[in-house]
Amino acid sequence: MGEVQFEEDDVTEEPTPDALETPEAEEQPIKQRKNGLYPDVSAELADNMQSGWADTELHDLEPIAQAAHTARRRAALSARFPGERLVIPAGNLRTRSNDTEYRFRASTEYAYLTGDQTENGVLVLEPAPGGDGHTATLYLLPRSNRENGEFWLDGSHGELWVGRRHSLSEAERLLGLPARDVRKLADELKAATGPVRIVRGHDAALEAALTDKVTGERDEELRVFLSEQRLVKDAFEIGQLQAAVDSTVRGFEDVVKVLDKAEATSERYIEGTFFLRARVEGNDVGYGSICASGPHATTLHWVRNDGPVRSGDLLLLDAGVETTTLYTADVTRTLPVNGTFSPIQRTIYEAVYEAQEAGIAAVKPGAKYRDFHDAAQRVLATKLVEWGLVEGPVERVLELGLQRRWTLHGTGHMLGLDVHDCAVARTETYVEGTLEPGMCLTVEPGLYFQADDLTVPEEYRGIGVRIEDDILVTEDGNRNLSAGLPRTADDVEAWMARLTA
Ligand code: GLY
Ligand code: MN
Ligand code: MN
Repeated sequence: MGEVQFEEDDVTEEPTPDALETPEAEEQPIKQRKNGLYPDVSAELADNMQSGWADTELHDLEPIAQAAHTARRRAALSARFPGERLVIPAGNLRTRSNDTEYRFRASTEYAYLTGDQTENGVLVLEPAPGGDGHTATLYLLPRSNRENGEFWLDGSHGELWVGRRHSLSEAERLLGLPARDVRKLADELKAATGPVRIVRGHDAALEAALTDKVTGERDEELRVFLSEQRLVKDAFEIGQLQAAVDSTVRGFEDVVKVLDKAEATSERYIEGTFFLRARVEGNDVGYGSICASGPHATTLHWVRNDGPVRSGDLLLLDAGVETTTLYTADVTRTLPVNGTFSPIQRTIYEAVYEAQEAGIAAVKPGAKYRDFHDAAQRVLATKLVEWGLVEGPVERVLELGLQRRWTLHGTGHMLGLDVHDCAVARTETYVEGTLEPGMCLTVEPGLYFQADDLTVPEEYRGIGVRIEDDILVTEDGNRNLSAGLPRTADDVEAWMARLTA
């Protein structure tokens, strides 16, 4: 890329606009600022680049769709931690290699509470004077300064390198929050008094700034609260989850239409095809797509996706589009590559389908979270006994967990901004909790017969089947958000025939 090299790119180290506006700073030639970081810039070029730019401030921005929801979420957070300063970072760019970075994805907690996705952003809830609630402020990197050259010389943050950012006042209008310069935040937090908590794991510089003021235990309480807060989705979130699933359905259709090309190449063709849909309609895939053909389907998180796709094999495709608002689907279909299940493939598929049906039927308000898992496992254990793969009775198998040799994983999980959403919620509110309307979870039983499993007849070996749908708990039961994809073996075959005709 031929990027201009800098000795340091830590935004907290950058001169603040205030500092640059001092007479002393203005008098310095640009090439002497920032420790000689711009050695090749002549004073003439620096002067030239400072001016001749139109004012592009946007004045007629409307608040983003989720602004009302984020305000309500922040109010609940405020009520839980009265009198405490709360720091929720979006996170920073992470190095992929040398001077290239991974695509940025804002932290789930920050996105949930602000609707914003800007790298280096930080939401701070500061106790309001008088002890009544909090004042929420968003700390963001302002637009690139045109006077000190950073807009065209800073390869990490300069707008001519990485694109225009919103000005602070634009961000305020969009997000419904006051916005301030993030480069001042670390010092402000260092100087602040009173109790403070930070969501850890996203912004090492801020954590370092707070190191003397926070404890791991108190910070974890904040993270746990934010995880539990997301257990029940609001109307905006349910709409986004449905949109994520709808894009995912189209992505699965895309894959079926190019299975011949995948056969001529590899699982990568499937990964790339789904990814195209995810990037065009959404932000990304919500997790690494599992494009597992043949015996790879027995590897639960097969994301290498570099194997052959062969007629006669099953393709297990576990993939989800993440919307531009960062909600993800998580859907699996197991498809016969040539469009028709073999007898043994169909037998195993139909067992998993039956287990999924039992699991989905157990998803309703008031049910225990564990119920759908137990229902699905019971069906699978029954099938395994029927097939003579494990000695009954079924109660013994379930009690000893013997079915797990082939079922391997839990039957589902909460879904939302994270594919495994609410992951740090306490056991009593999640795994041992009760389902409520607005919860969204996957139901995804599977059977996996490893290629080297000598305890099953040969015809089973190398077959893996998972069927995964995204299920919303409603007032009177549930709604399958991913019902746009077929699930029975017959329907899968008919759907594939239609798409490939
Ligand atoms: N895609 C990962 C899972 O199903 O949990
Ligand atoms: Mn899942
Ligand atoms: Mn999945």
